Amino acid sequence: MSENFTFKLLATDGKARRGEISMPRGTIRTPAFMPVGTGGTVKAMYMDQVRDLGADIILGNTYHLMLRPGAERVARLGGLHEFGGWSGPILTDSGGFQVMSLAKLRKLNEQGVTFRSHIDGAKYEMSPERSIEIQGLLDSDIQMQLDECVALPTTEKDMARAMELSLRWAERCKVAFGDQRGKAMFGIVQGGDNAALRERSAEALKAMDLKGYAVGGLAVGEPQEVMLEMLDVTCPVLPHDKPRYLMGVGTPDDMLKSVARGIDMFDCVMPTRAGRHGLAYTRRGKVNLRNARHAEDHRPLDEESDCPAARDYSRAYLHHLVKSGEALGGMLLTWNNLAYYQSLMADIRAAIEAGCFATRAQVITAAWDAGDL
Ligand code: GUN
Repeated sequence: MSENFTFKLLATDGKARRGEISMPRGTIRTPAFMPVGTGGTVKAMYMDQVRDLGADIILGNTYHLMLRPGAERVARLGGLHEFGGWSGPILTDSGGFQVMSLAKLRKLNEQGVTFRSHIDGAKYEMSPERSIEIQGLLDSDIQMQLDECVALPTTEKDMARAMELSLRWAERCKVAFGDQRGKAMFGIVQGGDNAALRERSAEALKAMDLKGYAVGGLAVGEPQEVMLEMLDVTCPVLPHDKPRYLMGVGTPDDMLKSVARGIDMFDCVMPTRAGRHGLAYTRRGKVNLRNARHAEDHRPLDEESDCPAARDYSRAYLHHLVKSGEALGGMLLTWNNLAYYQSLMADIRAAIEAGCFATRAQVITAAWDAGDL
């Protein structure tokens, strides 16, 4: 742990990086997967379970928390760590992306964005300064700049406009964040699927000398090759000695291929959301527990897993829970899925340290592709 926010590269293997982010609330081993805890809870999980699976950091959402219970209220209750019972680092997204996907009657201009809550229709305004203020009230350890992520496909002109706006908002967020030593504000590279715009965005953010850099606007429906191509142009521009976070990604395969291109951090709702919908992630691919073929299957999801949810319950029982809409079904599958994601990251980190990341990634992919037992 450290009084300051620091990033140390411990090993590299090709472009893959094994690092450590240190700050007062804890150390994050990278490559890291951050479970999504949108509204102050990683849905269907106890915080102790999340920690015991090896997660060093979780994610929270400015948008959801500002609407309910409200940022000022969270601050009065001691901040998000105290409120939700997570003492480690928390990264908060800035709200822009969620406003664009969830809020009603959105209006965006140079100043910021106005919108109506998807919960009760109440009107809100959010500027870059207000986003940073809210993230401060939540006491977030890693705060994200307010940005605009355009839906693909769109015109080059629109991608360029949103990217340039995001750069100006990054500057304003940097000023609003100021000089907080044990915390960080990350900029977000935008530019859609346009390599030149991505380069321009990454260069301009690099010149701002931020403590970390995210790559946004990807995994929004484009083919995986396009996402990887954008990483191929973006990562080499970003400074070597700062963490790189690919927002909203992804599948195990997306993460393996992104680590191979120099990404250090990920978040995705996939393991938690899929778990609540009856889908299990295992070393051997996805298993849909809704399927009738599991109805009398005595086997657990993965007898070799360290996670009780994967090891100690039959597929037949999980099938029954899911089909019956029992809360325990979503709880066990979320537990299993996050356990798989965290074990995958541990596996990736060990492989980079051992200098065998590329071959290990092939083995992991082959087991996944071989499919369920
Ligand atoms: N989450 C996934 N993609 C994005 C993005 O482009 N911007 C922000 N702020 N959050 C995201």
